Amino acid sequence: MVALNLGAGMLRSFKKRVEVKLSDLKGFFYDHEAVVKTLSGGRDLLIYEYYENPQPEIEGNLNFGVTIINPGKVGIEYYMTRGHYHAKQHAAEIYVGLKGEGMVIMQTKGGQLAHMPIRRNDAIYIPAFWAHRTVNVSSTELAFLYAYPSGAGHDYDVIKHKGFAKLVVERQGQPKVIANPRFIKG
Ligand code: PA5
Ligand code: MN
Repeated sequence: MVALNLGAGMLRSFKKRVEVKLSDLKGFFYDHEAVVKTLSGGRDLLIYEYYENPQPEIEGNLNFGVTIINPGKVGIEYYMTRGHYHAKQHAAEIYVGLKGEGMVIMQTKGGQLAHMPIRRNDAIYIPAFWAHRTVNVSSTELAFLYAYPSGAGHDYDVIKHKGFAKLVVERQGQPKVIANPRFIKG
């Protein structure tokens, strides 16, 4: 049993903490120049982190944890996770919003697209075969609980090379979902 600290949007205990910094996200944000400029200024910012209780990769087991995305932008694009397909693509996932406001963007290799808000108390079902990325559109941390089959794995390469069809950017102070001009289908 792991207690949730719902008020803080955190697990009370965890086995693993992973930090994802701007340098880990090269090739994921649209504005490469902004990434290079920030990194060459000696600033490798913490974009998000996750706290997990991994389970042995046995059929039927689930991994669960909490992801926390900091507020901020690279160029006009909000801070976000890399996003991935599950390596075992038939694995679905559930997210539950704990804190802040964000957007989950999803797509399939067959060209289906979806995006939906995630806020405290929202449960999001990510079906099998859908890539998923979470974006923090608020000025505070975005925290959400996740649970997925422990053997699912993460395929980041497709996203790194082809991108997501949609970007979430700030326009006139508001979040907007726009088409990614550099998206490669498939
Ligand atoms: O499996 C999930 O979807 C989450 O646990 C994510 O791994 C987590 O939010 C971090 O995102 P990513 O794995 O895309 O870096
Ligand atoms: Mn996932």
